[in-house]
Amino acid sequence: MFDIDRMPRGGPDASWLDRRLQTDRLEYLDRDDVERRKRSIIRSLDRGERLFGIHRRLARIALDEVTGVRDPQILELGSGHGGLSRALLTMHPTARVTVTDIEPASVAAIEAGDLGSHPRATVREMDATAIDAPDGYYDLAVFALSLHHLPPPLAARVFAEGTRAADKLLIIDLSRAPSFLHLVMVALALPLTIIPYWHDALISSLRAYSPSALRALARYADPAITLELRRQAPVLPGSPQIAVAVRHRRRGAQILS
Ligand SMILES: C[S@@+](CC[C@H](N)C(=O)[O-])C[C@H]1O[C@@H](n2cnc3c(N)ncnc32)[C@H](O)[C@@H]1O
Repeated sequence: MFDIDRMPRGGPDASWLDRRLQTDRLEYLDRDDVERRKRSIIRSLDRGERLFGIHRRLARIALDEVTGVRDPQILELGSGHGGLSRALLTMHPTARVTVTDIEPASVAAIEAGDLGSHPRATVREMDATAIDAPDGYYDLAVFALSLHHLPPPLAARVFAEGTRAADKLLIIDLSRAPSFLHLVMVALALPLTIIPYWHDALISSLRAYSPSALRALARYADPAITLELRRQAPVLPGSPQIAVAVRHRRRGAQILS
């Protein structure tokens, strides 16, 4: 029987080297004892993503998934700072967005900003592994740059829950670098890890899931989930990988996940 707990981040068929290029060490963002540091990393992420136009690029990718839907209901999971949700609301005149994160401090900060009073936004706390919404409530659920934070059993829950509560689940996350290149990147980045942002960036690279791991997670969550893997050209280290999951519902069947 497939042991999801022990699945390498590189997937069931990961090479010897790839299996060594992973860690159980937590990012600052995953810890409960470094609140100020966490807030500052979330702010840096927001600034960097705004500067390089990433919020808008990710929003474009998400909106392309709901082109046929008139007034799409979109759920953003793990929104951190709300930058992607803000771009979704700006770029689509009638989309309604539920902006969520598991971290109460992040949710409070988003709520205190412009999104807290936006007429088409709802801001709330939510765990991506236990989505508080009825089956099929959303047209699209998006989990951006966050899946690698979760160990395989919880990441599989995101596939189960995202495809239960939404017609489509869009996962955008860091690509896992080819092993030798990854090894070189880790060696070069090690001295930078005294800076909290780079500490988290290095751990993220070691925890990023490969395409075969994403397929295994989706299959484990439910064999009725189909996963389409897309990559944006050019494929550079650190460029995002994009996966769209859809669960094929049997007519009349209830989803029990
Ligand atoms: C690296 S940040 C990404 C923030 C934002 N999505 C972005 O693209 O910059 C990861 C986020 O995932 C959130 N997160 C971690 N585990 C989660 C879970 N189980 N459910 C929802 N959010 C979670 C964290 O609180 C954090 O805000």
